[in-house]
Amino acid sequence: MPSVDFHRRRRAALLQRLDHPVVLFAGGFRARNYPANPYAFRADSSFLYLFDRPEPDAAALFDPADGTVRLFVHERTAQDALWHGAQPSFEELRALQGVDEVLAIERLEEVARRIAGGRSLGSLAVAHEATTRRAAALTGERLDFESPDGPGSRTLVDALAELRMRKEPEELAEIGRAAAVTRDAHVGAMAATRVGGSEAHLNGVVDSAFAFAGCTSAYPNILSVRGEVLHNHHHGNALRDGDLVLLDAGAERATGYCADVTRTWPVNGRFGSEQAEIYDIVLAANRAAIAAVKPGVRYMDIHRTSCRVIADGLVQMGLMTGNVDGLVESGAHAVFYPHGVGHMLGIDVHDMEGFGDRIHYPNGRKRSTQFGTAFVRMDRDLEVGNVFTIEPGIYFVPAILHEPELRMRFEGSVDYAAAERFLAHNDGRGFGGIRIEDDVLCTAGGPQILTSDVPKDRQDVEAVVGSAAEGTAR
Ligand code: GLY
Ligand code: MN
Ligand code: MN
Repeated sequence: MPSVDFHRRRRAALLQRLDHPVVLFAGGFRARNYPANPYAFRADSSFLYLFDRPEPDAAALFDPADGTVRLFVHERTAQDALWHGAQPSFEELRALQGVDEVLAIERLEEVARRIAGGRSLGSLAVAHEATTRRAAALTGERLDFESPDGPGSRTLVDALAELRMRKEPEELAEIGRAAAVTRDAHVGAMAATRVGGSEAHLNGVVDSAFAFAGCTSAYPNILSVRGEVLHNHHHGNALRDGDLVLLDAGAERATGYCADVTRTWPVNGRFGSEQAEIYDIVLAANRAAIAAVKPGVRYMDIHRTSCRVIADGLVQMGLMTGNVDGLVESGAHAVFYPHGVGHMLGIDVHDMEGFGDRIHYPNGRKRSTQFGTAFVRMDRDLEVGNVFTIEPGIYFVPAILHEPELRMRFEGSVDYAAAERFLAHNDGRGFGGIRIEDDVLCTAGGPQILTSDVPKDRQDVEAVVGSAAEGTAR
């Protein structure tokens, strides 16, 4: 766990970047079906960055004039202790969190206005709507959690982004712990795979690996033999001979830090010849993109590297025709690789995605409007301490292969008849999709793969598939 001192240093660094007081909120419980039956509480990511395991409805007032931080939480009552257990006293919490003062949340508005005096107050929208309304009423800002411009003022969002963008050793240790649990989940699911098994069973293996380690899923598990559905959260299929399982799942620690890993493997334990060919192209794209990581490199160039390897492989397989650079320039590769090479990773699985493209496409860069390239989630120059994913893939998606406008545009670049044959694989169920995703740290010396313990070479994957003792799979 990051230490008290770590959070104190983060808060001091934020205070240095502020020119007026701000109030940040953890957010509260969100109802699942009726108010007393909520989803598990998950604090806002920036609040998690600044405080250790925040309480629901907590808020914090930062005053750059004197460098103070006041934490506001619910009063401790006998009723709460009865239902939810006793919480540390305000004095204990002050020491545990290393803040200047702990006060009752009911006093937030009165204290914040008094401390601000004539100065303006800033805040951030959070996922919990009632909290965002409270924040907006207090500061007078228009706060919108879903705004493409970010959840708060430019200066506040910029300050948090600058800090969160470069991971410190304690953050990297947390991501490393999440990566280790994620490895266990992936290896467990590979090992439990059998012809005649079920996606639901494998999903249970993944969830239990996370739960055994006190983690949750950082995002809904994508586990499917229909890997061509990019965010497939359905787990109702049987595992049949010839199918590929695509698992995209990552553990999230109590601190919020997470991993995000995808592996793809054959249900029957042996990649078929075309599965092997496609797998090795995706693996080559994953490796080439990772090898291109170094400080100062533009992430879009890493994306293009992965596109070129994929286009080249598909040309060699006869699925595309033409000059590789031209195919990537025109966007034809996106018929098979319709998403970006990855995204930032940290406390959010798409770290700070809610901060908007101003953060992820800096220096006046604009998102492409081209199919596929439009889904590249960031285009920053890489810096030491950045953590991000590298996740190329190849998919045979009926809706995309049959899309008339794309088909007209790319009929000279894509061998549609050859692609159709992949849709007929597996008695018409189709080839599916293959994605290989790792989490990578940019260091001064180049890339460091944080998820290298998850089997990735074809032979290493095949060695694990189905290796669990009979009876553990069904
Ligand atoms: N898990 C979603 C993604 O890989 O971006
Ligand atoms: Mn993923
Ligand atoms: Mn990802």
